[in-house]
Amino acid sequence: MNKVEIIGTGSYVPSKIVDNNELSHTVDTSDEWIISRTGIKQRRISEGEDTSDMATKAAINAIKSAKIEVSDIELIILATATPDNFIPSTSCIVQKNIKAVNATCFDISAACSGLIYGIDAAAQFIRTGRFNTALVIGAETLSKIIDWKDRNTCILFGDGASAVVLRKGEEEGILSIKTGSDGSKGRALICPAVPVNNFLSGNEMYLNKSTVSMDGKEIFKFAVKVLVKLVQELADESNCDLEEIKYIIPHQANYRIIECAAKKLGINSNKFYTNLDLYGNTSAASIGIALDEVYKKSLVKRGDKILIIGFGGGLTYGGIMIEVL
Ligand code: UT7
Repeated sequence: MNKVEIIGTGSYVPSKIVDNNELSHTVDTSDEWIISRTGIKQRRISEGEDTSDMATKAAINAIKSAKIEVSDIELIILATATPDNFIPSTSCIVQKNIKAVNATCFDISAACSGLIYGIDAAAQFIRTGRFNTALVIGAETLSKIIDWKDRNTCILFGDGASAVVLRKGEEEGILSIKTGSDGSKGRALICPAVPVNNFLSGNEMYLNKSTVSMDGKEIFKFAVKVLVKLVQELADESNCDLEEIKYIIPHQANYRIIECAAKKLGINSNKFYTNLDLYGNTSAASIGIALDEVYKKSLVKRGDKILIIGFGGGLTYGGIMIEVL
């Protein structure tokens, strides 16, 4: 089996900042409530850019940091819950934008675990020798599927994109991976697509509501449970103590989820890298935006271990232990 290295990261967020006070003019909420219940202070909201636009910018940044030619990319996997279209896939639009003519492209739908699932899939293609270089993107325009009158959800989310370049390597950069799903709890976080509405269905002109609804408490409990489980299992599988992990980068959903998990694990919550105060929950983009920040700020050095963990709609979860090379 081939070894897999992470050789570049990139991210992009829209320039428009919407802070909690601004949201308190549209729904019955307050800066104090949002910060105390979530840790979020502000989020970036698209003023017109779609998922492929942001994904393209994150991809260009990642390709620059990986110092590869665009023509080297043989695979593009894009994780999103907010594609531009049903057809074509958003990954194909990014391929066109960046002119990655040698790439096979497809999207995956795993909500907030999307980047983890994407890296996992790309790593398998590289390990087996099918492809040598892959671009994995997590990108979301959640603002287009949010009910901006629902204070239970609209305060949580933001828009953005991130990307990671993986390559067949001399050294092993991905020490262990774990993923899982629980479809039986899928209704805890849902955004419906188009209902069956053809000449046989009898659903005449069904009014489609494509906005997010969520059982926040159910997701909260699930998130804490899988975060703890994944940290323990991935540390065991990688033969490392929790102290040896430089950063745990969780999906950036809610600071209280992270504090609860840290307490259960008996570790300082400072080990968890967070930037959700600035960007809110950007679903499939969130882990990659944080990972890119960690690399770009030179917070890690060769040999450090980073654990990235996702959880969310599906329900889905997954984590990857990375060694910085
Ligand atoms: O990527 C995964 C996506 N989802 C998540 O990560 C969500 C996980 N869950 C959460 O983060 C939390 O459950 C929330 C932040 C969504 C909610 O926090 P909570 O502590 O579970 O609050 P709650 O739903 O129990 O609501 C408490 C009260 C309610 O009022 P009453 O019934 O006690 O009078 C809500 O109506 O707070 C009210 N409330 C709000 N008040 C002000 C709910 N949202 C708001 C709001 N501003 N935005």
